Amino acid sequence: MMTLGTLRDRLRVALSRAGLRPGEYSGNYDRLARLYRCPDPWGLDNDADRWRFEQTNAMIAEVAPGATSLLEIGAGEGMQTQYLAQLGARITAVEISADAAVRARSRVPDASILIGRAEDVEALVGGRHFDVAVACEVLYYLPDPAPAIAALQRIAERVVVTNYARLDRRIAPLLDGAGWRRCEDIRHGRSTWHGRVWSASPVGRPSSSAPDRLVVGGRFGK
Ligand SMILES: C[S@@+](CC[C@H](N)C(=O)[O-])C[C@H]1O[C@@H](n2cnc3c(N)ncnc32)[C@H](O)[C@@H]1O
Repeated sequence: MMTLGTLRDRLRVALSRAGLRPGEYSGNYDRLARLYRCPDPWGLDNDADRWRFEQTNAMIAEVAPGATSLLEIGAGEGMQTQYLAQLGARITAVEISADAAVRARSRVPDASILIGRAEDVEALVGGRHFDVAVACEVLYYLPDPAPAIAALQRIAERVVVTNYARLDRRIAPLLDGAGWRRCEDIRHGRSTWHGRVWSASPVGRPSSSAPDRLVVGGRFGK
């Protein structure tokens, strides 16, 4: 049963989220981390996000079949990490909120959850290289996402990004050009996410025969 305290916390988080537009999160990581005083501050325990997690897994399985090492940026409480773990790769995750990281560690004990900023990912992983790096719903909170994206491209063979469509505009130009491909949108009800994949080398087949748009997802609901 929800106590008065929990209700008060939830209300505070809802007001805080409503009052903070994505651009205003930029660099204000203390405020972002404070959201995790309550469990599931982003409200990810719902059918639409579960569908997004499944479709993101399908995207990764398509572009990085048999991946044995996976790096996740902005893992939060590990809700998506739990799905990523089903792919069978060894998971390293980076999350800025220490409270979230503690919950992620108990949710996915086999994953290595590092507390830190995406901007510092190379130092955090200490020179390791990954088959695939995943950045879902996180890049729009960085004041300057370009260096972090470039770092992911240096340390991973593939980079998979999903962005909530309405917040994608600022990031989209950075996810274009050599090696990038737009994937089929992930849709659930009225929610849409844009997916993109960067590959250091062609995926599965010669690049000349690769489709412009990778179809992995599809539509669920209306
Ligand atoms: C909207 S949640 C998304 C969680 C999960 N990736 C998903 O897609 O469901 C964004 C997460 O990214 C984290 N985050 C934001 N900026 C970050 C940064 N610069 N470095 C690491 N994590 C960050 C937040 O604390 C939060 O847990």
